[in-house]
Amino acid sequence: MNAPAALAAAPALPLIQTFADLSEGQRLAMKRIARHDEAVVPKIEFTKPATIFTSPERFALEQEHLFRARAVPLAISALVAEPGTAMGHDALGIPLIISRDKQGQVHVFLNACQHKGAKLLETCDPVKAGRMTCPYHAWSFGLDGKLLAAARAETFINLDKTARNLAELPAREHGGIIWVMLDRHAEPDFSPLVPELADDLEALDLPRMHVYGRKRFEIAANWKLVLEPFLEGYHVQRLHAQTVGPMFADVPNVVDLLGPTVRQLSGKANFTPEDLDIEGENVHKTVTTVYNMFPNCVVITSPWYISVMLLQPRSVDHTTVEYHMLTRSKPDNPKAEELYARSYEMILNVFGNEDFRAAEISQAGLSTGALATCVYSGLEASIATYYGVLDSYLP
Ligand SMILES: [Fe+2]
Repeated sequence: MNAPAALAAAPALPLIQTFADLSEGQRLAMKRIARHDEAVVPKIEFTKPATIFTSPERFALEQEHLFRARAVPLAISALVAEPGTAMGHDALGIPLIISRDKQGQVHVFLNACQHKGAKLLETCDPVKAGRMTCPYHAWSFGLDGKLLAAARAETFINLDKTARNLAELPAREHGGIIWVMLDRHAEPDFSPLVPELADDLEALDLPRMHVYGRKRFEIAANWKLVLEPFLEGYHVQRLHAQTVGPMFADVPNVVDLLGPTVRQLSGKANFTPEDLDIEGENVHKTVTTVYNMFPNCVVITSPWYISVMLLQPRSVDHTTVEYHMLTRSKPDNPKAEELYARSYEMILNVFGNEDFRAAEISQAGLSTGALATCVYSGLEASIATYYGVLDSYLP
């Protein structure tokens, strides 16, 4: 038996990043993670009124100042990776179309035919299409939103086709995320799209990853209660005790703000700083990196995949989450297929049955009025960082 030949024949599992693949910012932050026995969790004094999760007036204020005043993350670029792809999007309660035209430019439109307003695209799955044709009267539009043809156009007097293009929302791609201005009449503000964020997400290769799985969750909780577990490690040893808890440790995060995005890095249970210097080693085996892209997008690294969640607030106590599991490439061998399938099942269970459930039981309890405030520990310090940004955007 020839050992090197057997090794060479082992199927490849494409890893996420080695230390050499990191952006400059990721590299510097990773070097700041303390050895577990030297890590000191800070003590903090921080509370928030319970009504930020239960008040419809507060929800309306957030919609205006957090979700409509500047660009927000809408979807991942990888869903419409190929030119000539379009998909419907309705997770925000607003019917939208996301497309990539033949030139590779991404567009976001209101999903309404310019004849009588019918939804042009009824599917939220990406479709390859040269044009989008309304099912009602067959008006067709290019993926750049231009009206191409109206059926029996000769029967209209003075139909100005150039004035009947799709209504477009200002949108940009940044690091593999499609950002949009939901209020197309507001002054476009893309200030959250800072270069350091794109550097990190490009270093993760996010724009070019394979969408292995995608699942939508409807959660009976305020969107911030859904977000909070991804800003703290306090619950991990407790809520996830029977699942992923043992892989992590009660240690502080290394936290940085990239514009309004909160980036957290933490050493897993098996972390030692020396591991980072092993050439070719997969750094995400020992370090978890989480991005909370303001206000509603969460990116989490795992050793063999990346999770991206878009949290879409529907009402004060209802949130839609679109979960995506991204892998470096489409699995091309049984070992990768088995690993990804097992990981996908595991992560949907942990998020769906543990984190999202925790949000729902918090919402139920908070809605009783039993608490005036919620109180946060030093293991939840990133939540205070996040609310610092959020409060700065509210009047
Ligand atoms: Fe969790």
